[in-house]
Amino acid sequence: MKTESNNQRGAWGSRLAFVLAASGSAVGLGNIWKFPYVVGENGGGAFVLIYLICVFVIGTPIMLAEFTLGRKTSLNPVGAFDQLKPKSPWTGIGYMGVLAGFLILSFYGVVGGWTFAYVAKSISGSVLAFPSPKEAGEFFGNFIGNTGEVLFYHALFMATNIAIVIRGVKGGIEKACNILMPTLVVILFLLMIRSLTLDGAMEGVAFYLTPDFSKINGSVILIALGQAFFSLSLGMGAMITYGSYLSVKENLTSCTVYVVMFDTLIALLVGMVIFPAVFAMGLEPTEGPGLVFSVLPTVFADMPMGHGVAVIFFLLLAIAAITSGISLLETVVAYFIDQRGWDRKRAVLIVGLVIFALGVPSGLSFGVMGDVKLFGMNFFDHVDNIASNYLLPLGGMFTAIFVGWVWGTKNAHEEIEKHENKFHFPWAQCWEFLIRYITPVAVGIVFIAKILP
Ligand code: PFF
Repeated sequence: MKTESNNQRGAWGSRLAFVLAASGSAVGLGNIWKFPYVVGENGGGAFVLIYLICVFVIGTPIMLAEFTLGRKTSLNPVGAFDQLKPKSPWTGIGYMGVLAGFLILSFYGVVGGWTFAYVAKSISGSVLAFPSPKEAGEFFGNFIGNTGEVLFYHALFMATNIAIVIRGVKGGIEKACNILMPTLVVILFLLMIRSLTLDGAMEGVAFYLTPDFSKINGSVILIALGQAFFSLSLGMGAMITYGSYLSVKENLTSCTVYVVMFDTLIALLVGMVIFPAVFAMGLEPTEGPGLVFSVLPTVFADMPMGHGVAVIFFLLLAIAAITSGISLLETVVAYFIDQRGWDRKRAVLIVGLVIFALGVPSGLSFGVMGDVKLFGMNFFDHVDNIASNYLLPLGGMFTAIFVGWVWGTKNAHEEIEKHENKFHFPWAQCWEFLIRYITPVAVGIVFIAKILP
C-alpha cells in the first residue's frame, strides 16, 4: 500500500482552488436538472424550506466529517478508514464509496452526454423548433432512444472527464474548476436577469418563495433529505478524496461552510431562473424529470433572445456535469493509486473505460434496451437506485457513526484544530451532537423508509 508520499496523488494549490473544486463536485445535475423539478413536483417554497433544513442540520456535519477524514489520512476512502481502524469492517464503508462512485458515474456520464448533445442541438436551433412541451418531449424521447447519438455523446462526456483527471489534481481538476466554476456563476446570473425581466415572472417567484405547508408530508421530507445528500456529494467519499489533497494549514470548518453555501446558493438561483420563465410562458412547474429537457426549450423558443439563452443554459448544465463527473472519477482513481499502487495515467484510463462500458447499458435503457426490465425498472433506473438510494445514505450514516463513535469526535476535533485553526463553542459542541445523534438517526430513518414497500 502506498501512502501520502506517493507522488501520483497531488495537492491543491490554494484554499480557493479546493473550495472551487469541492463546490464543482457538489454543483451538478443534482442542482440544475433535479432540484427544480423536485421543487416543482413537491409544492415549491415549503419544499425549499425543508431542503434547507436538511442541508444545514444533516448535510453540513457529514461534509465536515468527510473533509476531516480525508485531510487526516491523506488517502482515498478505503485507505482512510483502513488507516484509522486497520483491518476492521469499517474499511467496508470505503469500498462501498468507491463502488458508489463507479456506479454513479456510469449513469451520470449518460446524462452528462445528453447535456453535451443539447449544447450542440441548441446551437443548431433544433431543440427550439417546437410549439409546446409535448413535441419537445417527443424530440427528447427520440434522442435518448437513438443508440448511435447517445453513445457518441456519452463517450465524448467520459473522454472529457478522462482528459481532465489524467492531468492530475493541480494541472487537471484544479485548472478546470478554476475556469469552469466562475463561468458557471456568470452564466447563471445572466440567465436570472433574463428570466426575472420577463412579463409575468413574478408569479413564478411567488410559487418558489411562498411556502404552502399543506404540501409537506413524510415522503416530501424524505425526498428533500435524499436531494440534500446527492446535491452535496455526500456518502461516497468524494469529499474524503478531495479533502485528502488539502494542506493542514487550511481551516476545514470554513471550507465546509463555503462549499455548502455555494451549492445551496446555486440551487436556489437555478430556481430563480427556471420558475419565473416557466410561469411567464404560462407553463406548469410539475413536469417532472423532463422539466429541463422538454419544458425549457419551449420556454426559450418563445422568449426574446431565446436562442442565445438556450445555448448558455445547456452550456451551464454541461459545465456543472463535468465538474461533478471528475470528482466521481477521481474518487475511484485515488483508490487505485493509493491502495493498488497504479500510476495515475493507467488508473484513469482503465477506470474511465470500464465505467464507460458499464454505462453503455444505462445509455441504451431508453432505446434498444427499453424493454429489458426487472421489477418494472430498466438498467439505468436500477444503477441509479442502488447507488443513490442505498449506497449513499448507508455510506453517510456509517461515516457519521464512524466519526462520532468509533474514531471519535475528540480525534476529529484535534484534526480540525490543527495549525491554530479554532473550532469554537458552540459550533464544535453543536457539530458533535449532530454527528453523533441526529445525523445517523435521521439518515437511518430515510434509509429504512426507502426500503419499506
Ligand atoms: N453533487 C452532484 C450533483 O448535484 O449533481 C452529484 C454527485 C457528485 C454525487 C459526486 C455524489 C458525488 F460523489
